[in-house]
Amino acid sequence: MAATVIRGGTVVTAESESRADVLVIDEKIHAVGKDVDVPAGAKVIDASGAYVIPGGIDPHTHMELPFMGTVASEDFYTGTSAAAAGGTTTIIDFVIPDPKERILDAYKKWRGWAEKAAADYSFHVAITWWDQSVSDDMGTLVKEHGVNSFKHFMAYKNAIMCDDEILVSSFSRAKELGALCTVHAENGELVYRLQKEIFEKGFTGPEGHPLSRPPEVEGEAANRAIRIAEVLGVPLYLVHTSCIDALEAIARARMEGQRVFAEVLAQHLVIDDSVYRNPDWNHAAHYVMSPPFRAKEHQAALWKGLQSGMLQTTATDHCCFCTPQKQAGVEDFRKIPNGTGGVEDRMSVLWHHGVRTGKLTPSEFVACTSSNAAKIFNVFPKKGALVPGADADIVVWDPEKTRTISAKTHHQRIDFNIYEGMSVTGNAAVTLSRGAVLWEKDQLSTVKGRGKNIDRAPFAPYFASQSKRNGENVQSPVKRERPAVAK
Ligand code: URP
Ligand code: ZN
Ligand code: ZN
Repeated sequence: MAATVIRGGTVVTAESESRADVLVIDEKIHAVGKDVDVPAGAKVIDASGAYVIPGGIDPHTHMELPFMGTVASEDFYTGTSAAAAGGTTTIIDFVIPDPKERILDAYKKWRGWAEKAAADYSFHVAITWWDQSVSDDMGTLVKEHGVNSFKHFMAYKNAIMCDDEILVSSFSRAKELGALCTVHAENGELVYRLQKEIFEKGFTGPEGHPLSRPPEVEGEAANRAIRIAEVLGVPLYLVHTSCIDALEAIARARMEGQRVFAEVLAQHLVIDDSVYRNPDWNHAAHYVMSPPFRAKEHQAALWKGLQSGMLQTTATDHCCFCTPQKQAGVEDFRKIPNGTGGVEDRMSVLWHHGVRTGKLTPSEFVACTSSNAAKIFNVFPKKGALVPGADADIVVWDPEKTRTISAKTHHQRIDFNIYEGMSVTGNAAVTLSRGAVLWEKDQLSTVKGRGKNIDRAPFAPYFASQSKRNGENVQSPVKRERPAVAK
């Protein structure tokens, strides 16, 4: 039996803040309180002056993703290690099958790649095409493999984009299975058309990227996905909400009582679209991701969305491409692999810009970096909580520890950092994953393969909302005489 006590800190959960010690036995939290009985020989971690919080959950990453002709440079080992350095102990990554690839085969492939992970992980599975095998495999994934969420890309035409027919088929099947549908909301047809127009006007560099994906393109898709979900009576989760247009669609649906959840990326909260006009092509290209960075007014609105609870989770969409990979698009911005890193920096960026500015309380920080994701994706309180029986994924968070973010010192496997030079106060001092210390005294001690896949059970039947379309509840078909039909 291995015992660890985290002593003298302020325990912060999504619900409360109190002075308490945390006793960990093996991989689980055993007790939280003022007078916990500490077994002889227990390792003692001093948390005085610090907060003790649940390990972060990043619900949107892409480790070693094959995408746009290349493969994301961060793998499951390096990525979960970098995450641990920043206080994140669980990632939810994406299986993205090639169109016509059996989705179960793709899932097994990703599970193999993830075996090297240093900390825990789980998978959303993308629906990139449709036939009976996809429907059958969705059932197998939910019933036998602990998958409870499916992703739909409404962009990336001629690759992985879902049209409305696929959305409707997949949403309906997910409803039968008690799984949660998630969407990347951008109108892929419009993006395709605008990319061509913008390129032909001579915008061949990274500045063409945001011009081809304006906020309306995201707002339209967000609203369409929400309305499809509303008609079918299924809950919906929108990834990487980046603009007012999408936020308004989300807020309206929530105000109407629809079960809609949404995520915001740390980078969309603090970086604006001026990055695309940087005179250094490599620099500008490193910010090419979708949806793109937006004008400043969108950032202000996203913060308010987070503060008001319209947006519940924060993620990174961690999808790293090094400079030579980005240069595949040196002649044509449409060929720059889309993606940015940040799994290591999400928590400190949120603390520095959210908590230290008074936008978020420490408990709200815990909610939006960990507990809400655990609840929405149905792994609470195993993850996202500090209660007896929960996995001992714990971070000693030093609110006064300052670090200047840089690619020279980060642990991510990418030669650029989108936050380069940003000084952040509030950082992970110690990170534990299922009881094992992965990060302490600015040193990683991760072990390849210690991470485990986390199964997520399907949702209870009441999770699927009542559709307004269910007029059959209040009406019945009109009984009529059959009219004489003219021959
Ligand atoms: O640009 C991005 N976001 N790349 C990763 C794939 C996606 O759209 O999430
Ligand atoms: Zn996306
Ligand atoms: Zn993504």
